Amino acid sequence: MRIYACPGNETQAHALAKALGAMQGGLDWHRFPDGETRVRIDTLPRDEACLMCTLADPDPQLLPLLLTAAALREQGAARVGLVAPYLAYMRQDRSFHPGEAVSARHFGALLGVHFDWLVTVDPHLHRIARLADVFPRPHRVLHAAPLLTDWIRKNVPQPFLVGPDAESAQWVSAVAAGLGAPWTHLVKRRLGDREVQVTLEDTSAARDRRPVLVDDIISSGHTMAEAVRHVRSAFGRPPVCIGVHALFAPQARDLLLEAGASQVLTCNTVPDASNAVDVLPDIAAAVRPLLQAGV
Ligand code: R5P
Repeated sequence: MRIYACPGNETQAHALAKALGAMQGGLDWHRFPDGETRVRIDTLPRDEACLMCTLADPDPQLLPLLLTAAALREQGAARVGLVAPYLAYMRQDRSFHPGEAVSARHFGALLGVHFDWLVTVDPHLHRIARLADVFPRPHRVLHAAPLLTDWIRKNVPQPFLVGPDAESAQWVSAVAAGLGAPWTHLVKRRLGDREVQVTLEDTSAARDRRPVLVDDIISSGHTMAEAVRHVRSAFGRPPVCIGVHALFAPQARDLLLEAGASQVLTCNTVPDASNAVDVLPDIAAAVRPLLQAGV
C-alpha cells in the first residue's frame, strides 16, 4: 500500500506510514486563479492506496479529493481508502428547517461512491446512530474517549466532567466512565452561528473537584466559551477544555482563554497547536484489517 497526504496532512500521513510500515506516495494539488484545482499523482500507486485527508475545510477540499481518488484508480490502484480523522458534515443530520438538505447522508453517500473504505474518529453521530447509515462501505469508527481518559487521569486530579450541551453526553459520559468520575452536561440553546445560551444544573456537591469540559468539536468556540463561563462561576475555578476536533475558527481559542479556560487541548485529528492527544496509533491499527492487498 502507498499512503498519500492531501495538502496539510503531511505530518499525519507520515506518522501513519511509519506506524504501518507503509510507503508514502506523492501528490500535488495546484489551484488555478479561476478556482479549479489540477490534481497530479507523483508516485504510481500499488494495489492499495490510502488518502489521508482530514476534512476540516470540506468545501474546497472535496472536489480535489474526489479527483485524486479517481486519478489513483486511473493510474492502477485497485482500491482507494480514505483516512479522514475529522469527518465533516455529520452535524447536519436532519432537516432542522423546511427545505434543508440532510447533508450527513449526502456527504457520506458521495464518499461511498469514491472510496472503498473509510477510517475516522468520533464522527458527530447523534440523530443518525451509525456511520453505516450514511457510509455504505467498510469502515472503522474510532473513539477518542479512552485516550482522553488517559490524559485526564495523568493530568487532572479529582476531575468533574462537564459536556457543554446535551449532544456531548455520549463523549463526556464515556470519558467519565473510564475515570470513574462524576459528570453532567449543560443545556444549550443555539441562537445563531456565533451565539449560544447554556444553563448548568446545581453542581454544589462537586465543588471540591476540578472541572473538565469535553466536547467533540470546537468550531467558533462559542458553545465551549459559554460553558466555560458557567462552569467557572459554579466551581470557582477555571476548567480545562478538551475538544476532540480542533476546527477552531479564527479567534476561537482566544475566546476560550478570555472566557477563563485554564487550558485548551485537542486530539491530532486536525493539526493544531492545541493537539495533545495522539490518535494515529489507533488509526494505524484500524486501517490494517481494511486492506485486502496488505501493507
Ligand atoms: C454540536 O453539537 C457539537 O458537538 C459542538 O458543540 C459544536 O459544533 C461546537 O460549535 P461552536 O464551537 O461553533 O459553538
